[in-house]
Formats: sequence, structure tokens, C-alpha cells
Amino acid sequence: MSKMHIGIIGAGTMGSGIAQLAAGAGHDVILVDVNDAVVRNAGAGIQKSLNRLVEKSKMTNQEAISIYGRIHFHNELNILKDSQFVIEAIVENLKIKKELFVQLENIVNPSCILASNTSSLSINALASALKIPSRFLGLHFFNPVPVMPLVELIPGLSSDRYAMDTVLECMQQWGKISVIAKDTPGFIVNRIARPYYSEALRIYEEGIADFATIDYAMTSIHGFKMGPFALMDFIGNDVNYAVTQSVWEACYFEPRYRPSITQRNLVSANWLGKKTGKGFYNYELELPLPDTQNKLLLSGIANRILYMLINEAVDAWYFGLASYEDIELAMTKGVNYPMGLLHWAKELGIQHCLSGMETLHNSYKEDRYRPSPGFLKLISDVHE
Ligand code: NAI
Repeated sequence: MSKMHIGIIGAGTMGSGIAQLAAGAGHDVILVDVNDAVVRNAGAGIQKSLNRLVEKSKMTNQEAISIYGRIHFHNELNILKDSQFVIEAIVENLKIKKELFVQLENIVNPSCILASNTSSLSINALASALKIPSRFLGLHFFNPVPVMPLVELIPGLSSDRYAMDTVLECMQQWGKISVIAKDTPGFIVNRIARPYYSEALRIYEEGIADFATIDYAMTSIHGFKMGPFALMDFIGNDVNYAVTQSVWEACYFEPRYRPSITQRNLVSANWLGKKTGKGFYNYELELPLPDTQNKLLLSGIANRILYMLINEAVDAWYFGLASYEDIELAMTKGVNYPMGLLHWAKELGIQHCLSGMETLHNSYKEDRYRPSPGFLKLISDVHE
């Protein structure tokens, strides 16, 4: 692929990361933000990130200088008039994003491809603001962009093959692993990962175990890198809660995604996690020790959360949110799960996982625990 003129709008966390990535792949990048202070900070932030890579011998000082030299910082959209591909990474607000796209279409050429890095808004709703919606798609990166290998591509109803193919080729050249998701709330990763948090919260709320023990169960038994509470504190409870709430609302209040009052209380108290020093854990004190002895309790917790995750992945596959392969890639490359959830189901036995869900459903009699119809299809596919 030849070098392109890339425009990125929004020089915050994500926009800066995307700019570094695109410049690292050799493209000329213009990074635009309405806020002058953000534009200045973005330059310093990218430089710091590149310096770290030099210190770790991942690139030479000369390479870092060249990459930085390919990024041009601006506060005016008009500068994007010759861009061939523009990625929007501004504030997560439908009205503001739509207004931006209307403005942008009056500036760029009709052939310029447009993408949004939205994590929760409908791609079709954003596309509805455009005169040429065929050139538009969702392009969801993960934070930190230069490090996380995955990107989700989300075509809208109008997105054309050319736009998809061009962006797919571009992502490959930028060293990313692409998966294709339907335009559904949370796309693949943020949807399938919900039970990791919500079921852990539910187990805590039932008084079954404390945060440290639930975290320990997931890391020690199933090999997750971080337990759910440590991870929510790391992501930020405000961010994690907002994603849950938006997926829940956008899925017509599906009980599986219902947010937790425990987490809402933390957000209200500004106990946002690591960034405020306090969340589920108090990072100014010594962290509490888990109960490591009660093996039955630990495996009960770990399996319950895993069944719920598998149920979610099976459901996503059954309803065609993404292909089997992309669901597996998304969860291993987007959130570092130790194994693809569909493969995990096969290892444990699909019937065994279905029975796990049925036991939960029978004991709670709540819709939240109903097994996905996809289990039966998966079982019949395996036996074909
Ligand atoms: P951020 O708050 O760090 O940056 C957003 C930037 O957009 C700000 O600097 C703001 O000044 C600028 N902005 C707002 N309106 C603008 C406009 N009309 N024109 C130009 N610039 C404007 O936000 P962040 O975290 O970088 O998120 C950006 C987008 O990426 C959001 O849609 C978010 O949902 C999505 N996203 C965020 C992830 C994360 O982990 N932070 C992960 C994946 C997607």
C-alpha cells in the first residue's frame, strides 16, 4: 500500500495513539484537536511514548525522530482537505460526532475514507449524518493503541467494499489484527467481556466472596492476567460502568448486562480505581489477602464467571455478531484472555458448559442466566 495522507481528529488518548501508529507505518499524519492545550500535550505525550520505545531498544532514536516528524499538529479542520483517510477520535457523543462529520464532508474530497473510533455509538447512526455514507465505517482501536494488537472494523449498512478493503489493507500494513464486527452495542470485545465484570460483581453482592478472593479465583484457576476487580480499577470504574450502562441500554435492558449498584456507588464516590488511588481496593494501603484455601469456593466462582463468558461468546456467534474465528481473535488479542472462549467451551465440553448455565438458570430462575440457543447449534456442528 502506498503512503497516504492520514487525518486524525481528536488528540486525546486514542487520537495520539493512532497518530503514532500511522506515522510509525510511514504515513504523513495531521492530528487535529479543537483544544490548543490538548494539541500541545499530544506532541509531548507522543514524544514520551516514542522515547520509551527507544529506551527499550524497540526503535532507534533516528526512527523515533522520523516518526515524530511525520506528525503535524493543528487546531483547524480545514487542514484536512487533502487527506485520503480520516479517523475521528473525539469525545464519545453522538450529536457532537455527527456535527463534526457534516463539517468534515464539506472539507475533504468525495473519495476520502472516513472512520470513527467510537467504542459505543451506533455506526449507522453516525453514518446517517453523511452525504456519502458508503465511505464510512467504524474502526475501534484498543488502548494503548501502539501496543494493543487488535482493531475491530464495523461496516455500517451503507459501507462499501472499497472502503472496507482499503481500511483492512491499511490495518494490516500498520501491523494490526483486524476482526469484523456487526454494528451492535459493544461490538465484539466490549460485549463479550461484560460478564467478566458483572458476574464478579454479582458474586460479591451475594456475599459469596470478597474482591480479593474473586480476583484470585480468576487468575489462579483460569489464568486470566488480572482479576475482574483489579481490572475494573485499572480501566477506571467510571469508564467501565459507562460501557456496561451503554451496552445494557442499547440492548433494550437485557438483564445479562445490567449495571451494578456496587460499582455505581464507587463512581458516585469518585473511587474510580488506580487513577484516584481508591476503587474496589485502596491503593494507599496494603492490598487485602484472598482466601486461597477454600478450593471448592474458588473453583465455583471461577467456573461461574467462565460459563457466563462462554455463554456470551456462544450467543455472539449464534447471532452472527462476528465469525467464529474473529470472536476467538477478539478476546485473545483485544483483552488477552488465555484462550478463545469457543475453543475453551470445546475443551471443557460444550454440554458441560451448557449444563453449567442450566444449573445457574435453575437455581436463580432469572433470565440473566438463560443458556444461549447457540449451545445446541455448537453441539450439533461438532457432531456433524
Ligand atoms: P479524550 O477525551 O482523551 O480525547 C478526545 C479529544 O477530542 C479531546 O482532546 C477533545 O479536545 C477533542 N475534541 C472534542 N470535540 C472535538 C471536535 N469537535 N473537534 C476536534 N477535537 C475535538 O478521549 P479518548 O479516550 O481518546 O476517546 C476518543 C474516542 O475513542 C471516543 O469515541 C472513545 O469512546 C473512543 N475510545 C476510547 C478508548 C479508551 O480506552 N480511552 C478505547 C477505544 C475507543
